Amino acid sequence: MLDWTDRHCRYFHRLMSRHAQLYTEMVTTGAILHGKGDYLAFSPEEHPLVLQLGGSDPAALARCAVLAEQRGYDEINLNVGCPSDRVQNGLFGACLMAEPQRVAAGVAAMKAEVAIPVTVKTRIGIDDQDSYDFLRTLVDALVEAGVDALIVHARKAWLKGLSPRENREIPPLDYDRVYRLKQDYPGLTIAINGGIKTLAEARSHLQWVDGVMLGREVYQNPYLLAQVDAELFGDLRSAPSRHQVIRELLPYIERELAAGTYLGNITRHTLGIFQGLPGARAWRRHLSENAHKRGAGVEVVEAAMARVPEPELDYS
Ligand SMILES: Cc1cc2nc3c(=O)[nH]c(=O)nc-3n(C[C@H](O)[C@H](O)[C@H](O)COP(=O)(O)O)c2cc1C
Repeated sequence: MLDWTDRHCRYFHRLMSRHAQLYTEMVTTGAILHGKGDYLAFSPEEHPLVLQLGGSDPAALARCAVLAEQRGYDEINLNVGCPSDRVQNGLFGACLMAEPQRVAAGVAAMKAEVAIPVTVKTRIGIDDQDSYDFLRTLVDALVEAGVDALIVHARKAWLKGLSPRENREIPPLDYDRVYRLKQDYPGLTIAINGGIKTLAEARSHLQWVDGVMLGREVYQNPYLLAQVDAELFGDLRSAPSRHQVIRELLPYIERELAAGTYLGNITRHTLGIFQGLPGARAWRRHLSENAHKRGAGVEVVEAAMARVPEPELDYS
């Protein structure tokens, strides 16, 4: 999720679930091919890891897919769902729903170059183009191009007039449309996304589709991940407690600080981990007040954690 997640966030999330597929935020082909930084960097612990690309030029997408495969990503996902203006000008994101052949050409170009799966994340429609047939036209083109799976955010996007934030809240969710898509394309792997907040809800969607993707809820309430392996993947090994998760994060923090990362850039992802426990607010406050200070190190995290009484059996 742009501006929210990064590789530190994924490292932290991976401490709570071995099986959940983790995604990068959207990275544009332009940033990868012409940017100054290394936009493909990740830690091996983040696997299974999907790179989400933003772009529409088939040659650029294919080049990025090759680079990602060489770096060890497990899958490439193309963003056909982001409604931001910035994105529309660059011709990528949700506006591409109106150009199925262009998206299909991008998918085909990537498929021709890499062996890892190539998937697409899309909305159910844009603006007034929100009929089921409109969605099917895109899906038909993607199937023809060999797409390996779809993730469908079950609401349309208004490209004019709504902010990206409003576009995640105002257009109503239509889960039935995604279920119907799965019925009509039984051989295509389809995951559903949008407004899912609990694993019970996730389970109920899984009666109809092959996968679920959670965005905001997992970011804000990350400990939800600790039950994913047992509840959704049948892996009953015991999940770490919240305190254990943070303790396991400390060596990573030390390594990253030594490499020049600021503490706050890691701890900002952890603010919600104690949600619902006594001391959760003190944890957040201590980190927010201290993690950005010059020279702040793991002792700040330890002091923040000391403000949350450790339950004898932390399992929820
Ligand atoms: C801050 C923020 C940034 C996002 N960035 C991306 C992104 O880079 N790529 C993407 O496919 N979706 C992005 N999304 C959308 C989410 O992936 C997801 O589709 C949407 O929030 C609905 O799912 P949710 O209700 O589980 O959050 C972003 C959402 C938020 C809140």
